[in-house]
Amino acid sequence: MRTVDLILRKRAGEELSVEEIRYLINGYTTGEIPDYQMSAYLMATFFNGMTDRELSSFTEVMMASGAILDLSDIPGVKVDKHSTGGVGDKTSLICAPIAAAAGVIVPMISGRGLGHTGGTLDKLEAIPGFRTDLSVEQFRAMLTQHGMAFMGQSDEVAPADKRLYALRDVTGTVESISLIASSIMSKKMAEGCDALVLDVKVGNGAFMKKQVEARRLAQAMVGIGRRLDKKVQALITDMNQPLGFAVGNAVEVMEVSQTLQKSGPADLTRISLELAARMIFLAKVTPTLDDARKLAEDKLMDGSAYRKFKQVVQAQGGNPLALDRFELLPNATGMREILSPRSGFVSAIMAEDIGRASTMIGAGRSRKEDPIDPAVGVILEVKAGEKVDAGAVLCRLYYTGEDNLDEAAELVEDAFRISGSRPEERELILEVVG
Ligand code: URA
Repeated sequence: MRTVDLILRKRAGEELSVEEIRYLINGYTTGEIPDYQMSAYLMATFFNGMTDRELSSFTEVMMASGAILDLSDIPGVKVDKHSTGGVGDKTSLICAPIAAAAGVIVPMISGRGLGHTGGTLDKLEAIPGFRTDLSVEQFRAMLTQHGMAFMGQSDEVAPADKRLYALRDVTGTVESISLIASSIMSKKMAEGCDALVLDVKVGNGAFMKKQVEARRLAQAMVGIGRRLDKKVQALITDMNQPLGFAVGNAVEVMEVSQTLQKSGPADLTRISLELAARMIFLAKVTPTLDDARKLAEDKLMDGSAYRKFKQVVQAQGGNPLALDRFELLPNATGMREILSPRSGFVSAIMAEDIGRASTMIGAGRSRKEDPIDPAVGVILEVKAGEKVDAGAVLCRLYYTGEDNLDEAAELVEDAFRISGSRPEERELILEVVG
């Protein structure tokens, strides 16, 4: 088999066989197929998609590229959650400890920033000392002892996704239903969970801009779960403005801490509680979803979710004091205010532009090997629907260097739409699939 022939066939819109897919994925994972050929294959897939059969094969080969964990000797139902990617989307760091505090075992394999969206691993690593590169043994020990653990794709688990994810991030090949579905489901199905809650984002800050596309993505992932005998439920949620106020890494950790201490933004708290409730219900901790919602709220309100998060931060090498004393988190050295050019209502905040600006000043990567700057980001002062006066602060841009700063500031300024009339309020949770 020759890689170039498979690229040509994919470019022509043909279906690849499972053997051909195995050749590509295993060849790339072992380093035999170079980045430039895999990038060409990914771009051809981006434009031509995959058939259902290809998607199944692709996901299963990716899943089998490393160990498939068996967590059945750890007592309790294992339920994870994953988002398809948003801006300011830090719900994993909130719903996981809520669910774990309620008795769910949460084995979470997450990703880094992707395209204009942030990643759970990058956010966690903004906490000084926090380690996400756990071995399988360490992951299992964390789950046994604390009921919750965070790790990344590794050379042991989901190595194909580790490499493909990093390549897609910098080659404009993220927004593909088949590539997103296989990326998410391969690592989630390898981690040994019994059930999975998905947050499929839709809107200007999501990879899926239209609800019909988000529904197709949700259905594809629920279908993969069903074939592998796992219960998967997807919520389709609005991503037409950043979730909460903070976009970046350390700044998002600060907002997570505030939310787990009951003083977080309303939209972030609401979605996180609903995701946690779905995890609790799928774990059969409560007989009904309403009971699960009540339990999730209790665990947030009585502080046990926050205590659980701090416990896990400490156990994974992070400094839990940084969650209360933000000066211990990486801090930016410069700040620029973005002001409203006129009075009116904030009719929209283009989340993708805010995410891109944050990436541009260092919160994300332009090349695979780029380090990220955990201190930088954007903190909104206003949300859609609010009234502002001319000259009012719309948001603050936190930076540590001047590279790309003017361009990022311009992008952020243009992301705010100010109009004469109050926009209609949007529903946050739009649909449930599965
Ligand atoms: N999250 C993932 O893990 N993979 C994607 O492709 C998108 C979001």
